[in-house]
Amino acid sequence: MADDAFTPDWLALRERVDHRSRPTALLRPLRAAWHAREWSRVLDLGSGTGSNLRYLASRLPGRQEWTLVDHDPDLLDRVHGPDPVPSDPGSSDAAGSALPVHRVVGDLAEEGLARVGEAHLVTASALLDLVTREWLTALVERCQEAKCGALLALSYDGTIVWSPPEDPDDAWVQEMVNAHQRREKGLGPALGPTAPHLAEALFQEQDFHTWLVPSPWHLGPGDLALARALVEGWIHAVAEQAPSGASRVQGWGERRLQALARGDVGLTVGHLDLLALPADPGAG
Ligand SMILES: C[S@@+](CC[C@H](N)C(=O)[O-])C[C@H]1O[C@@H](n2cnc3c(N)ncnc32)[C@H](O)[C@@H]1O
Repeated sequence: MADDAFTPDWLALRERVDHRSRPTALLRPLRAAWHAREWSRVLDLGSGTGSNLRYLASRLPGRQEWTLVDHDPDLLDRVHGPDPVPSDPGSSDAAGSALPVHRVVGDLAEEGLARVGEAHLVTASALLDLVTREWLTALVERCQEAKCGALLALSYDGTIVWSPPEDPDDAWVQEMVNAHQRREKGLGPALGPTAPHLAEALFQEQDFHTWLVPSPWHLGPGDLALARALVEGWIHAVAEQAPSGASRVQGWGERRLQALARGDVGLTVGHLDLLALPADPGAG
């Protein structure tokens, strides 16, 4: 979650947990719209190495063509195809066939927005907390013009809950992390945890039907590497946000890392998934 956290290793570490955390409840209305409107073209913004492609492609019916936009060419070079979900009755044969995937090295504000008009479904995962109100407003306007759907998954919602025992500095760390989330992340002052609710409101203003559903990470003993990386990222973020609290957060981090190593604690990190579909069933 720190600025420099988008390494291939970090994205690989979170992918398994991301996929198991995504709510299947959104798939039914998405598949229905996809089928009824004969959609096929997906635009994945801030795609990284393609985790969202690997989750979603095999869960959508029929023919698909994906465009992945990211400003990091190294991440795009590592994109690989979707995993089949053979037991899923809604899955397509897209996973087993040659799925066209176009990789675009570009910025969200330029190439990203410019491609919305060609898409039937715009999607992003683990992205919204980084963007600005201006960018999000522009995205929703482009979606309205294109009459395309949007699936914005795994947006951090500001919630960090440790299962017992509590540490006296948990609340302070959460507050500092959430303040750090609102800092500049490349596009301007970031929306951080306010993004998913604002996105829903903006889509509703444009008469989209919306579904906003929790997609929390529940981290247990099997997720130690991810939990460790999170704590280390939070130590870094809090030290940046509150330099006078650097030793305090270091102490908190040591206690939390020890508790994680002992298997003493559980950790829940709140996320939200938003599906927004254009109201006119004949559109698109
Ligand atoms: C948290 S990662 C999520 C990656 C991927 N969607 C996933 O779920 O694994 C955020 C991604 O957004 C990309 N990104 C951040 N700011 C960007 C910008 N201004 N333009 C294009 N890509 C950007 C990063 O390179 C990174 O791949």
